[in-house]
Amino acid sequence: MCLSFSENTRDMLNKKPAKSRMFILIAGCFSATLTAAFYFASGSKMLDKSDQDDNKVILGIEEYRSEVLLMSDSGIINSKLDLSLFSPEDYAKDAIYMMETSGRQLLSAKQLCSVESTARLHPSKTIVLLVASDTIVYPTLITSLLRKHPNVLLRKIDVGKVLSTSPLKNMDIENTLKKSKFVTEHASDLLRFALLYEHGGIYLDLDMIVIKKLPEVANGVATANEGTYLNPAFIAFQKGHPVLLDCMNHISESFNKDWFNGNGPDRITEAMKRWCNTSTLQPGMNCSNVYLFPVDNFTHLNWGISMKAFDEDPAIADPLVANLESNAFVFHYYNDVTRVVDANITGNSAIARMARKYCPLVTSYSRDWLFVTEHTSDLLRLVLLYEHGGNYMDFDMIVLKELPKVANGVATADDGKYLANGKN
Ligand SMILES: *[C@@H]1O[C@H](CO)[C@@H](O)[C@H](O)[C@H]1NC(C)=O
Ligand SMILES: *[C@@H]1O[C@H](CO)[C@@H](O)[C@H](O)[C@H]1NC(C)=O
Ligand SMILES: *[C@@H]1O[C@H](CO)[C@@H](O)[C@H](O)[C@H]1NC(C)=O
Ligand SMILES: *[C@@H]1O[C@H](CO)[C@@H](O)[C@H](O)[C@H]1NC(C)=O
Repeated sequence: MCLSFSENTRDMLNKKPAKSRMFILIAGCFSATLTAAFYFASGSKMLDKSDQDDNKVILGIEEYRSEVLLMSDSGIINSKLDLSLFSPEDYAKDAIYMMETSGRQLLSAKQLCSVESTARLHPSKTIVLLVASDTIVYPTLITSLLRKHPNVLLRKIDVGKVLSTSPLKNMDIENTLKKSKFVTEHASDLLRFALLYEHGGIYLDLDMIVIKKLPEVANGVATANEGTYLNPAFIAFQKGHPVLLDCMNHISESFNKDWFNGNGPDRITEAMKRWCNTSTLQPGMNCSNVYLFPVDNFTHLNWGISMKAFDEDPAIADPLVANLESNAFVFHYYNDVTRVVDANITGNSAIARMARKYCPLVTSYSRDWLFVTEHTSDLLRLVLLYEHGGNYMDFDMIVLKELPKVANGVATADDGKYLANGKN
């Protein structure tokens, strides 16, 4: 199965990126991997050039050169991975499930760091990475990761179809999900319950770095808020577990379209209260063989203070790292809060230190900035135009007239006092 898409990838190997005078970078909220991919693609062009003039480029050309070497090593340019559908043949006992349910065709460096850290520490388990799109574009990094960790299985998942054969089948899934204010998150909530109910195993969110081998419990749930509230960012359940069935029964009776936590954390918390016959849950409880983990094991930082993950101040980063190493299985940094924050990968923040240690392949690709987003786009546009000349424009514009034929020009903003390098 895996072969079929590596072959597709290999077909693309000899295709050089098209020579074009206008470079378009995506600089929006979904830019991370795509921007990084352009970054790799441009690196390969630099490799093709034999003249030594590249060194003149002021902006960290050495870093780009290193990307070039990685790039030529894996040899994939402007390709894509077509994914096969997750099917019964893919069933693996005790698998670890991770998923991207937004439907976008990109996996960010942050997400791949989660996958790499999980795969490294669990070589004998299958990591099932499910994506709600048919294709992954700019798959350089994910392809390297799949080669290095053959225990990662990347598959497309048809969310509607999986849910329609689950205990959630009685709700009008597609129409109900469509009305949700948090479609991506709610789809992910429903899917994790349905998948573990069907197959058993572990589910993990994609915004955590796994720093220790995960616990070998048959059934368990992460806790938050002093342990009174459950957080299904980590859950382990045996196939057909009654707690999951109870969760799904309550969701199909009253799906909550308005509240972020309404179909995940709220539902598993209520279901566990019923299962334990109690109104107050506590970490360390082990009700009929479902274990509630100490808060710090999976939720060292809570939602409200997750920016601390990116703080370079040793007074914040040092104790955080020490606490994680002694009390946590994973470093959960809440992508919903921190998605626009870049980490200086050579820096001192807890997330950079954890990433260097637990996802070395992803960090080796990321060079200066882990989790490249807008800043990479900023740097890349300067480097590209310095090397090749031409126009750069952001991807959030509709062109109404032919662009001006000036040799050099920059757009302005704020009455012209500020230059907006959306177009140079
Ligand atoms: C909860 O109550 C039910 C029904 O009274 C019982 O079957 C079950 O064993 C109880 N569970 C626990 C954990 O005490
Ligand atoms: C929970 O209790 C079961 C027995 O009911 C036991 O087998 C299991 O090891 C316990 N789990 C933990 C994490 O203590
Ligand atoms: C989980 O948390 C408890 C309580 O803080 C701690 O004693 C234990 O070492 C933690 N487990 C791991 C694997 O860090
Ligand atoms: C990243 O952190 C390193 C080490 O603290 C520092 O030397 C470097 O200047 C930082 N880079 C950027 C781009 O801020």
